[in-house]
Amino acid sequence: MAITIKSQSEIVKMRKAGESVAKTHLLLEKNIKVGISTFELDQLAENFIRENAASPSFKGYQGYPGSICASINDEVVHGIPRKDIILEEGDIISIDIGACLDGYHGDAARTHMVGTVSDGAKKLIEVTKQSFYEGLKFVKPDNYLYEISAAIQKYVEANGFSIVRDLVGHGIGSEMHEDPQIPNYKPVGRGPRLRAGMVLAIEPMVNIGDYEVSVLEDDWTIVTLDGSLSAHYENTVLVTDDGYELLTICQ
Ligand code: MF3
Ligand code: CO
Repeated sequence: MAITIKSQSEIVKMRKAGESVAKTHLLLEKNIKVGISTFELDQLAENFIRENAASPSFKGYQGYPGSICASINDEVVHGIPRKDIILEEGDIISIDIGACLDGYHGDAARTHMVGTVSDGAKKLIEVTKQSFYEGLKFVKPDNYLYEISAAIQKYVEANGFSIVRDLVGHGIGSEMHEDPQIPNYKPVGRGPRLRAGMVLAIEPMVNIGDYEVSVLEDDWTIVTLDGSLSAHYENTVLVTDDGYELLTICQ
């Protein structure tokens, strides 16, 4: 499938979907505290998304049961919200949210600290977020996609962490996952050229230890193979004539 170029009217819809995702993140951020379950966070998110006339993109996607993904500590992504997973002091939690409005999706992830966390965990969260912004510097027409990938990898590895390879970012629009795939490490070649109107979900997943991951028995939750902590940061990004616009950050 070719990379879709969004029209102005599609971009208007994607801004609204993105805004819904951004607001849901702000709501959950306020509710992240010791003692809350990931199921409760999921309920808060689902209700809020629906109040905003949107629907949770993840729910039912390939049978996924939750409205959000909530991945704690060594869980990388796709943690299924559960009543018996209760946040504890010192945990780190990655929340991934997708919302669909008027047929278009927004997708974003944040990693939060629960109370006071170790210095290593704090640095991991900061490096993961900043790696997204390092990649973002290369988002503009005529650049090559893998310039983004290379910038993310370089920053993460310079800080002594590793970038997950088995999962990648993606184009997004009327489908949650569209072309192109967006690796967070530099593949061979340059990748496609960026054009105004492309929309990209750029989402580095970073481990303190090795980059290898495995899947739990629930067939969803991805964990680090070595048990080290992992963080995730993602935004939906529109390529504009002179650079980019972040669609999943409240302006
Ligand atoms: N945000 C994830 C992604 O970018 C999607 C979660 S997968 C789901 O690929 F199945 F949980 F929806
Ligand atoms: Co995504």
